[in-house]
Amino acid sequence: MIFLKTDEEIELLRENNILVSETLAEVGRHIRPGVTTKELDRIAEDFIRAHGAVPAFLGYQGYPASLCISVNEHVVHGIPSDKIVLKEGDIVSVDCGTFMKGFVGDSAYTFAVGEVAEEVRQLMEVTKEALYKGTAQAKAGNRVGDISAAVQEYAEKFGYGVVRELEGHGLGRKMHEDPGVPNYGARGRGPLLKEGMVICIEPMINMGNKAVVFEEDGWTVRTRDRKPSAHYEFAVAIRKNGPDVLTDFSIIEKAI
Ligand code: MF3
Ligand code: CO
Repeated sequence: MIFLKTDEEIELLRENNILVSETLAEVGRHIRPGVTTKELDRIAEDFIRAHGAVPAFLGYQGYPASLCISVNEHVVHGIPSDKIVLKEGDIVSVDCGTFMKGFVGDSAYTFAVGEVAEEVRQLMEVTKEALYKGTAQAKAGNRVGDISAAVQEYAEKFGYGVVRELEGHGLGRKMHEDPGVPNYGARGRGPLLKEGMVICIEPMINMGNKAVVFEEDGWTVRTRDRKPSAHYEFAVAIRKNGPDVLTDFSIIEKAI
């Protein structure tokens, strides 16, 4: 069931997603060679709590941390660890969720650790652009498939693999609401988009093959061919005048 949000509810979702953006900016300021993903998780948890929210991921279906931190071939849902030490040339996808005032924020950003290879930089840029291409389709009267197809077509133009096993979702009082928002699909298909819907669009794009495997820890998803993967996510409200992005990547990009 899809829950349509009032203007007031959309503002509470915006507050959450701005806090997520600020948390990702704070994490981004600490990303450098030598830092562990566990340290980044602690920084995020402290920051979220200091701003009157709680980490939405912590305890979600038993998830043990505040962030998902996925390095290089890890696609999503990497568990922060004191054994994972970032090094120059890595890319690190950080996914963050907050809960306050009855609503959830959920967004992700892929950061470079120092200088990364040109082909890896392109993977990051194309994945973010695929998110923007999908977002442009998030308007009343379109269907979810219009978003999905826009993401898929753009990423595949570069020969990249579009992950099938995970998808975006509605966002509200719960982190995962209807509808599902796949990153592949056909224009004109899927649920109709209506004013008041809030969705997370979150392309997970592999430099190589689209296939992924699930690691033994029960969470981490990695590419089967062990080539790198990037992930960007933001929350978008469907409004009268078109897509209203509730997350603010410029807060992150000013910080890094
Ligand atoms: N942000 C992820 C998503 O968009 C969810 C994180 S999984 C969790 O679906 F278990 F860590 F919460
Ligand atoms: Co999400």
